[in-house]
Order: sequence, then C-alpha cells, then structure tokens
Amino acid sequence: MKHQTYRNLPPLAGFCTFDQAARPGLMIEPCVSRLKRYHYAFKRLHEILNAHITAEPIYELKTAFSLHAYLCAEHVISLRTRVGEMREPPLGLDAVPSADLQIFFDEILAAPDTAHLLVGLYEKALPALDAALACHLEETNHLADAPSVRLLRFARLELADILAFGKQAVPQLVDAQARTAMADWLTLLDDCLAAAGQLDGAALAVAKTLTRCHSAKPYVYDPQPQRDERFTDQWNQGVNAEVFLHDPEMPARAKTLMLYYRRIREIDVPEMMASIIAQTPGKPAGYYRDVSRQLWDEARHALMGEVGFVVNGVDWTIARITWNWSYRLNTECKPLERHAVLYFIEQGLMGKTGKRYEMEVGIESGDPLAALFQDYDWADEVLHARVGRDWYVSAIGDPAKAIAYGDECWSRVLGNWRKVLDQGLTRHENWWPALYRNACQSWGVAPDPKVLAYHQTYEGCRPDLKHVSTSA
Ligand SMILES: [Fe+2]
Ligand SMILES: [Fe+2]
Repeated sequence: MKHQTYRNLPPLAGFCTFDQAARPGLMIEPCVSRLKRYHYAFKRLHEILNAHITAEPIYELKTAFSLHAYLCAEHVISLRTRVGEMREPPLGLDAVPSADLQIFFDEILAAPDTAHLLVGLYEKALPALDAALACHLEETNHLADAPSVRLLRFARLELADILAFGKQAVPQLVDAQARTAMADWLTLLDDCLAAAGQLDGAALAVAKTLTRCHSAKPYVYDPQPQRDERFTDQWNQGVNAEVFLHDPEMPARAKTLMLYYRRIREIDVPEMMASIIAQTPGKPAGYYRDVSRQLWDEARHALMGEVGFVVNGVDWTIARITWNWSYRLNTECKPLERHAVLYFIEQGLMGKTGKRYEMEVGIESGDPLAALFQDYDWADEVLHARVGRDWYVSAIGDPAKAIAYGDECWSRVLGNWRKVLDQGLTRHENWWPALYRNACQSWGVAPDPKVLAYHQTYEGCRPDLKHVSTSA
C-alpha cells in the first residue's frame, strides 16, 4: 500500500508495515482457535521431550531434550496468557482441540526407539508447528493482533534453533534403512495432520482412517536412566570429590577438576527431575515451566563441567560419572519423595561450605572459567530453592515438615546403600590419579605427589554418607 508517512518517520510505532496493519486478517474466534492448537502442540512437545530425557542414552540428546522441553514449557505459558486476554474465560486450554492431533502426538510419545522419536519430533511435529506460526504471522492483522504477533515471533526464533539442532542431529543417527522401516508410520503421522486440517486446523480437513500404531497400547514412562558408551562403571563411588574439595592441604587448581567433575556428574539431576515431571500429572502450567527450567539448569551445569574439562584438555571419560542417585531415586521413590530429596539436598548447598565456597575455590585457582561457572551455578541454586518453595514446600504445606520429609526419604535411600554397594556392581576403581595426570600433562606441570596420592572414598568417610553424589 502506498502511504505517505509524516516527515518520513516510521509509521505504526515501527511495529509493522501499513500492509500488515491494513489487511482484515483473522477475527478473534479463528485466532483463538489457532492459538489453542499451538498451545496444545507445545504442551504435548514438552511432555514428549521430557518423557525421553531419562532413558535416552546419548548425552547430547539428553541435554538437548532438556533444553527443548523447557523452551516448549515457556511457550505454553505465553500462549495461555495470550488466550486469557482474548475474551476467553473459561479458557478451555485443558481440552484436546483435535482428536487427530492427539493421535499424532500420542504416536510420537510412544516412539519405539530414538530414530522414530527424532524423526517424529524434528521432521514432523516441530516443522508443522513452525509452519503454522509462520502462516499465522502471514494472515493475522499485525496491529490488531500485535500481542500474538510478538509472542509468535519469539516462539519462531526458538523453534528455528530447535529445528537447526534436529537438522544436524537426525542424519547422524537415522540412516536410510531406518527411514524405510518407519515409512508407514510417517505416513500415519502425515495422515493425522491431514485429518486435523493441519496443525492449526486452518486447512481443509481430509477424511482419513487413522489406525494407531505405537500408541495402540497406552504409553508407559521408562524411569530407568540410560547412558551412552562414554559413561562406564556407573555405580563407582571410589572418589570422594567433596572431601577433596574441603581439604585445605589440596591445591585450588586441582580442586577445579573436582568442581568440573561435580558439575558433569549433575547429568543425573535431569534424569531424576524428568521422572518427577513425567509422573506428576495435573499440576498448573507454571509447575511444569518452573520445574523444567530447573531441569534445564541442571543439564546446563553438567555441560559446564564438560566445557571445563575440554578447555583444560582433560578426557572427562576417565572420571566415573555415577548414576546411583537418579537410578535409585527413580526406581525406589515416589515422585513427591524424589522432589523432597532434591529440595533437602539443595537446602544443604546454601550454607557456607556450599555454593559460595565452590566459587571461592574457582577464584583462588586462577581458572577464571571455574570461578564464572560456579558463580552462575550458585545463582541458579538460589532460584532452585525458590522453585522448591513454590512447588514442593507448598505441596507439603509446612517448611519444617518439608525438610524433615526430604531428610527421611534420603536417609531411607542411604540406609540400604551398603546393600547396593555389596551387589558387586562395581569395584570402586580409584580413577582420580589417571584424571589428575591427564590434566597435569595438558597443563605442562609435574603432578603434585600429595594430590596424586589422595584417595578418600565415600565408604571411608562414613557416617558422612550424605555426601553421596549430591551435586544438584
Ligand atoms: Fe545444579
Ligand atoms: Fe540445583
């Protein structure tokens, strides 16, 4: 549209063009109907991504699912808020907007292996959602529907990152043979979208007979953690990082290796937290957003550990990155008990010997990255304490009872620790000298004999067993 702007200034507050503001676009009802479908899609995507964090063995996928699930949970909140602004109470956001879409997402949730899951998510569901948002931005009136336009633009920014991850990851893990084997299933997914009038329901619905395949039986969440081949001897508790960190005789530079170890070992926290989310249905959307944010933070802490090792030229696979904590909590405790343990442990990290001390070790070591990571790790921990208060303590109803319950649940798990250790699952090999030597080689310094000789197992510091893998 030709339009002379006043003194050549940008019109319409610079938010959109006159063309975007002048077209009639979507009325409120079809607009809300589409927004509800995006909301449903993000909610299901969050559910699916979260559900596969624990049992996905590949570390890069486990951490990416943690991020992508969190981002989806954020967009669920934005869309809920927006729908609430559009004359919509009651919002009706818990209703399934399309039975065909329900089958579509149920099928991906029930994907029988990583290949199906990756293709279903990154080549079907996420592109369909992104296309729907692009279409909305194309069709809606940008001035009248400005709040939707704003949040959909943000959503598309993050979807672009997620899709880029998928584009690089999927071909590495899904070969032609796997694709051929899932061809019928992919047709079923396409048929679901066609029958639903595509993800937004704006296209003409095509009648299809949809026969459930992998979702024919109800989906069952798998709480047992899995790891890829870089993680070995995962019951090993042969090196007590906490005792080393608090030993004034040990040099700060070597302590940063234990800090990075404590961080990368945190990969067990997303594995455990995903199980709480997956097995705690019916909570408000804010619960899933906040707990997923914490879950992603914990995955990020593990990634900080990885970066610390890589920057220092250390092969982190020398360390034994245990899964005792996630494995046992997921298989021995109820979801609320797991949350109780998490809260109890995180409360313990707030004291003088906790997160502040770790940052001080980082500063003292002269490794600026260790100091920076610990500084942010500490800040994240303060947020996690709030998440715990908002959702766990409020569920228990009383702060003192909430702590006592966490203590009781954790003590129960620790109480039969000996039994687990005696099952012959590990020989508790002392991996520390090899890791320290590896670092010294990279630093170009001779190993310090007293650091090399350090050996303090968890068993050796009983009854201090509460130090068992508590890096949340
Ligand atoms: Fe953490
Ligand atoms: Fe935390």
